[in-house]
Amino acid sequence: MTVQPAKIALRGDLLDFTAAPAWGEVDPAGVRWRPDHWLLVEDGRIAGALPGGQPPGDDWARHEYPGRLILPGFIDTHVHSPQLDVIASYGTELLDWLDTHTFPAEMRYADDAVATAGAARFLDALLAHGTTSAVVFPTVHRLSVDRLFEAAATRGMRVVAGKVLMDRHAPPGLCDDVVEAERECTELIERWHGHDRLAYAVTVRFAPTSTPEQLAMAGRLCTRHPGVYMQTHLAENRAEVEWVRSLFPEARSYLDVYARNRLLNERGVFAHGIWLDADDRAALAGAGAQIAHSPSSNLFLGSGLFDWRANCDAGIAVSLASDVGGGTSLSMLRTMADAYKVQALRGERLTAWVALHAATRGAARALHLGSEIGGLETGAVADVCVWDVAVGPVAVQRDGLARSLHARLFAWMTLADDRNLVAAWVAGRPA
Ligand code: GUN
Ligand code: ZN
Repeated sequence: MTVQPAKIALRGDLLDFTAAPAWGEVDPAGVRWRPDHWLLVEDGRIAGALPGGQPPGDDWARHEYPGRLILPGFIDTHVHSPQLDVIASYGTELLDWLDTHTFPAEMRYADDAVATAGAARFLDALLAHGTTSAVVFPTVHRLSVDRLFEAAATRGMRVVAGKVLMDRHAPPGLCDDVVEAERECTELIERWHGHDRLAYAVTVRFAPTSTPEQLAMAGRLCTRHPGVYMQTHLAENRAEVEWVRSLFPEARSYLDVYARNRLLNERGVFAHGIWLDADDRAALAGAGAQIAHSPSSNLFLGSGLFDWRANCDAGIAVSLASDVGGGTSLSMLRTMADAYKVQALRGERLTAWVALHAATRGAARALHLGSEIGGLETGAVADVCVWDVAVGPVAVQRDGLARSLHARLFAWMTLADDRNLVAAWVAGRPA
């Protein structure tokens, strides 16, 4: 194994955020653009920045990327590791898609060899797309969590994950029981939460696949282990929302099912949240929970058009997520491009700044990891990606004609994918 030098300097055009950009502003405060700078990395953390003309001393290993973008690694706040196997599956909406494609694929993760190979393939694919941190659903199988965390630790990645909880309305091979699941979750929390760069999330698949007893147990886990995250799906699809209404007639809304079970808190990551009302949004904002908006998945599964503006106005942190395999790409750039189109269909305009912020600093802050990831601030862990702004004659021509920084980055976000990734550094090590 090659020993990585402790002091590394990366030269390129540095881009990150010092504050959240306002909706619709193409020239907001808070965008930090430092063209031609050295980013200094010492012992895996960012140690500062210098103008390109002032190189650091000879004791720094220098890597020069002239004209290329250097950004914090992307954060995908909702993605399913086993669902790479069903990405791009034809012909269904959410509930049929789960039964037809997804549950059979997840069943295979009972096999250690499948879970081990799948975890490695998944994390390597994330890195190849410039995603260095992720909030992940593995499967109901305990070993799928162990294998994912082991693979993340090997790669030095920041991963939040947990055993999927589901004890009804799914094939027997994917259902657990309350007592056994509580024991497994407790052991997994003790083993993984806070180790390396890993964190545990109590992972309720969604309300329909949990009995009331299991939801209560999940709430108990969150209360007993205050540092853990909670992740689930929320109000993604209209048939799903109707189903929840019939299963939990006592609840005011889908979100209220979670709230009643003490699953709505500031460490909550709620995927989708398309079919919410103003009271739900106020409750999410009041709790400090985030919505992981998954535009590619919402389009592919025909789920609906997320009202980002209303969530933003309500004060909810909205992060971006691929939701693969409902989503059709692990690329956060493809995800941003889809997010723009969803907003266009709503008559809104999503700036490149709001999109990029949601995939970096915004997600980091919503996860209470703002000083660790999502930015190029001194002291942050050096999860850093280097990007070509344009690849191929069409993008190169378009880039040359862009008249402002926002125009350039918007074209990048709209046209780029994993082919634009030049290098990824995870905690100061090349991935
Ligand atoms: N709701 C419950 N499970 C899932 C899942 O695996 N993917 C999506 N997109 N929605 C869900
Ligand atoms: Zn999902």
